[in-house]
Amino acid sequence: MPAPRPAPVGQSHPAEADWDEAEEFVRLHHGEYPDQAVPLTARLPQIRTEIDETGTYTHTADELVFGARVAWRNSSRCIGRLYWKSLRVLDRREATTAEDIHQRLCEHLRQATNGGRIRPVISVFAPETPESRAPRVWNDQLIRYAGHRQDNGVIVGDPLYADFTDTVRRLGWQAPGGAWDVLPWVIDTDEDKPQLFDVPSDLVLEVHLTHPDRPDFADLGLRWHAVPAISNMRLRIGGINYPLAPFNGWYMGTEIGARNLVDSDRYDLLPIIAAHLGLDTSSETTLWRDRALVELNVAVLHSFNRAGVKISDHHTESRHFITHLAKEEKEGRTVPADWSWIVPPVSGGTTPVFHRYYDETDQRPNFYIDEDAKARGKGECPFGHG
Ligand code: ARG
Repeated sequence: MPAPRPAPVGQSHPAEADWDEAEEFVRLHHGEYPDQAVPLTARLPQIRTEIDETGTYTHTADELVFGARVAWRNSSRCIGRLYWKSLRVLDRREATTAEDIHQRLCEHLRQATNGGRIRPVISVFAPETPESRAPRVWNDQLIRYAGHRQDNGVIVGDPLYADFTDTVRRLGWQAPGGAWDVLPWVIDTDEDKPQLFDVPSDLVLEVHLTHPDRPDFADLGLRWHAVPAISNMRLRIGGINYPLAPFNGWYMGTEIGARNLVDSDRYDLLPIIAAHLGLDTSSETTLWRDRALVELNVAVLHSFNRAGVKISDHHTESRHFITHLAKEEKEGRTVPADWSWIVPPVSGGTTPVFHRYYDETDQRPNFYIDEDAKARGKGECPFGHG
């Protein structure tokens, strides 16, 4: 187990708003939406004065919505950006206590899950200011499965979360000890020390995996949660940091069927699935890994569809991304993209996104991942701080 790291000293980024970025952002906003109640010529000096007097400024509700949507549009690792304009933005800047935040996170899951008709949602909590430290959650996603370390070194559950599971146990979590235990939230506010909250189980939609033509596949007892909701990325809009701004889309099948259940440092299931399918694993040249992988991905898509839970396959999603590129180009914008993240982890070359290069320049606003947030998510956080 890694030794707990020393507490991060101070903040990883200044709490003062950056005027140049503020100006750049507001110009972008008014450029794309020229019909504003307060014109650019009035909004800019307003912000300037506010920054001069307080060190920061407050986004209008419209600016927040636009900023969050464009941060998604600029997320170069995301293949699903065709729908960036439809992002639901929940303005949660007023929530300050852990209890308030807990309630808002529950509401986020409710609106996002929507009975299986998953909707892209972001909840934006209070920003960093010179006056106060913004709230955070230590979890890297709102829904993740615990990884329980056994005495024999085997990890039951998701090994990626073994350290985080140790952390929440030390904070008092009574871990059930199964392979699919949803981790509790650690909510960290200015007011108090980090507090644990169980995620209400009626808010966690899960899909049990079955296979369209192998009835005994269900015996493997596999499942995954319906909503991927990233909660450790800092949203930065116009020079203002929002460290807690959890957002979600719907899954692309390969994220589950080619990574979460498959990576050797995750559930590592290919050998088990191959055995279940009766594949010849005596040599790599039988391509038993590839065959097991395809059947697992068939099972993921089939099961989500059958359960009425929105999911997309990598062929369709790749085509949508190409549509997105064309649409953006027509608007006169370039689409920043990272090839190694955009190309799906199976059958890459059979999808159109494989056969080209992308513009890699970073654009603002955007989402960022900080070292201290990464450390918290891994459970490397100091305990009992504050
Ligand atoms: N790959 C991550 C996971 O498996 C989720 C990343 C975001 N994915 C998405 N479809 N919005 O949980």
